[in-house]
Formats: sequence, structure tokens, C-alpha cells
Amino acid sequence: MTLIAKLKRFIQRATPQNPATTAEYWNAKFAVPEFIYTTTANQFVVALASELTPGTAIDLAGGEGRNTVWLAEQGWRAENVDIAQAGLEKTRQLAQDRGVTDRVLTTLGGGPSFKAQLAPADLGVIAYLQAPRSIVAESIANLANQLKAGGHLIGVWHALENLEGGFGGPRDPEVLPTAKDIVAVCEASGLTVKTCENRDGKIQTNEGLKPSITLVLLAQKR
Ligand SMILES: C[S@@+](CC[C@H](N)C(=O)[O-])C[C@H]1O[C@@H](n2cnc3c(N)ncnc32)[C@H](O)[C@@H]1O
Repeated sequence: MTLIAKLKRFIQRATPQNPATTAEYWNAKFAVPEFIYTTTANQFVVALASELTPGTAIDLAGGEGRNTVWLAEQGWRAENVDIAQAGLEKTRQLAQDRGVTDRVLTTLGGGPSFKAQLAPADLGVIAYLQAPRSIVAESIANLANQLKAGGHLIGVWHALENLEGGFGGPRDPEVLPTAKDIVAVCEASGLTVKTCENRDGKIQTNEGLKPSITLVLLAQKR
């Protein structure tokens, strides 16, 4: 490792905890009437979950609940597990607006340690948990443990490659996974990877639609 690379790593390690990993950060971000991440489900979650038979689903880091509520509208019983109480409240509001409160559950919890009410579930979703690698790895392992054998896991992240070749998403490489990282974590967590690859998740900018390199995962519990 070069001296510059060592110096960069030292500065990264000495930097205080990334604020985007705390409940305070997310509660403050979600404390506005509008839905920051919209009320429209993520296109990759929609495409992959549409191929599955509805059952029970755990939407880990489900935020304001756009994917949880969409799943409920498709006939799933869906549980949003998130560290931000404000996101869970908006999820309940959205579920009410869409008439699916009877199929939506919310649980306050962190990825590495949560215990879902619906475990063991047929499906796990983890969309845009842009957290340090160790947190993502522990979260996937914990989520995999709460899936039925044969159950599926759908994952979506801004990919590390988006730093150089795409728009939007965090700028901190520590919270941007690669396909290789996620495949290794899945294999160690009892999951067989069906798809784990970068796709173009186009985002709207002031200059129109721009490419956004998005890591998309479909795995199955062994
Ligand atoms: C970018 S938002 C994505 C929300 C949602 N999945 C979506 O696609 O709209 C990230 C979410 O991760 C949650 N989060 C961050 N760290 C977490 C952790 N350790 N455990 C559970 N949720 C976490 C935040 O509270 C926030 O709701």
C-alpha cells in the first residue's frame, strides 16, 4: 500500500461515525410531510418481487415504507424494520392511505440485531441500506436467519462503481458495496446467489435523467 493510500485509510478511520448510520439523522430527515424517497416502490424490488408468490416479507431498512406498502398491495403481509421511528410512522400513514393497514407491520430495530414479528418469512428486502460494510454484512446475516428455507432475499444498493461512473447516492466509499462484497456475505449467510450485478437505475437530475449504477441482488435461503 502506498503512503498516500495509508494516509487516506488513516483519515477515514479517524473520521467520526458516519451520521447517516444513526437514528437521529434519519428521524430528522423524515420529519417533513413529504416522502423523501417518494411513495413509489423501487423498480428493482417491483420487478423481482412480482415473480414471487405473495406470503410474508421483512423489509429491512424500509424507511418511509414505499416498498413495504407496495408489497402489501400485492397481497404480502409486510413488515418494515427500521431504526427511524419517523419512517415507521410514515409507513403506517401510507398503509392507511392505501387501505392495507391489516397487512402492514412496523418494528423499530437495527439490522444486525432486530427480531422480526413475521419471522421466519418468505421474503427479505433490503433496499439502500448504505451503511459501513460490517453493518451491511451483519444485517444480511441476521435477515437471512429470519427467512424460511427456500425464501428469497432482494437487495438494492448504490454500487461502489457509482462513485466514478454514475450520479446520486452517497459519496463515501465505505457505504458503497460491490457485487463481490455482497456475494461473499450471502454465501457466508446460507444464501445462494441467483443474481448480483450492477444495473442502470437512472435518476432524475437538473440536467435530466442520468445513469446511476445500482447493485441488484436476488438470493435464496438454502
Ligand atoms: C436511503 S433510506 C432507504 C429506505 C427504503 N429502503 C427505500 O428504499 O425507500 C435508508 C434507510 O435505512 C435505515 N437504516 C440506516 N441504518 C440502519 C440500520 N443499522 N438498521 C436498520 N435500518 C437502518 C434508515 O433509517 C433509512 O430509513
